[in-house]
Amino acid sequence: MPKARVFVTRVIREKGLALVRDFADADIWPDELPPAREILLERVRGVDGLLCLLTDRIDAEVMDAAGPGLKVISNHAVGFDNIDVPAATARGIPVGNTPGILTDATADMTFALMMAAGRRLVEAEKFLRAGKWKTWSPSLLLGVDFVGATLGIIGFGRIGQAVAKRASGFDMRILYYDPGPSPSHPSLPAVATDLDTLLAESDFVSLHVPLTPQTRHLVNAEFLSKMKPGAVLVNTSRGGVLDQEALYQALKAGRLFAAALDVTDPEPLPLDSPLLELDNCIIVPHIASASVQSRDNMALLAAQNLIAGLKGERLPHCVNPQVYG
Ligand code: DGY
Repeated sequence: MPKARVFVTRVIREKGLALVRDFADADIWPDELPPAREILLERVRGVDGLLCLLTDRIDAEVMDAAGPGLKVISNHAVGFDNIDVPAATARGIPVGNTPGILTDATADMTFALMMAAGRRLVEAEKFLRAGKWKTWSPSLLLGVDFVGATLGIIGFGRIGQAVAKRASGFDMRILYYDPGPSPSHPSLPAVATDLDTLLAESDFVSLHVPLTPQTRHLVNAEFLSKMKPGAVLVNTSRGGVLDQEALYQALKAGRLFAAALDVTDPEPLPLDSPLLELDNCIIVPHIASASVQSRDNMALLAAQNLIAGLKGERLPHCVNPQVYG
C-alpha cells in the first residue's frame, strides 16, 4: 500500500519531521521563506495531508486545490487564524493545533517583555553601546515598579493564567477580563472584572486573546484612551488585535509609559513603521514560543495531529471537533 502523501510548508524541528517522514511520503518545502501562494496551490495538489505554519494562509482555494483526498490540516501553532476553519469543517477536514506545550515559553516571554519595557532594558543597552554612559546617576533611565502594581490580563486562557502565576510571584495585584466563556482558575489570586475597570486600574496590560473578527483592533484609540496614564502594554497574542497607528499616537503623546510587542501586523514589520522610531516601544520578531523544548514539542504535536488525521483517527488536538459528528 503506497504511503500517504503530505506537504509540509517548512522545515520544522527534527523530532516532528522524522515522525512525518517515517509515516508518509513527505514533500517538505526547504526554503527559509514560506512557499509563495502559486507554489502552495501547486504543491498541495492531490495530497492526503497538509502540515502548515502560521505564515501560510489556508483557505477554501487551497483546500480545493488539494482536492477531495485531503484528510487533515495540521497547524504548527496554537493560534489558527491563518486557517479558514469553517471551510475545512464544511469539507469534513479536521484541523489540528498545538495548545499547552508553548504556554510556559510564551508566558515567560510575556513577562520578559513586560520587564524589559517597564525597566527600559533595550533603551539602556542602546545608551551604553552609544557611549553615553558617563557615570552612575540618581535619575538615569528610571523605570516603573512591579511589586504592588496592578496587572490586567485580557484573555484568561492557558497563557493568560500562566502570566498571572508569574505575576503573583512579583506580588502584583491581578485583574483579568475574558471575552469568552468564564475560565476556571482555582488557585490563582486573580479577580475577574469588566474591560473598562481593567483598563482604568492596570499599570500593565497584557493581551492573550486569539485573533477573530471580534478581537481585530480590540486595542484601538478608544481602548488606549481608557488605559491608566503611564501604563505599559504588552502584546504576545496576534498583531491584528492591536491598531498600530493608534498605539504609535498613544506612545508618542506619552499617554503610555511603554509598549512591548512580540507580534505585529503585518509580519515582518516593515522597517519604515513609525513604531520603530520610538524608544519606548520594544518589538521582537514573533519569538514568544521560541524555546528549544517548546518548538520541539510543537513539531512533535503537529506531526502527531497530521498522522492521526491520515490514519482516520481523532486528532489529539482538533479545533473543529464538529467534523466527528
Ligand atoms: C502560536 O503557536 O500561535 C504562536 O503564536 C507561535 O509562537
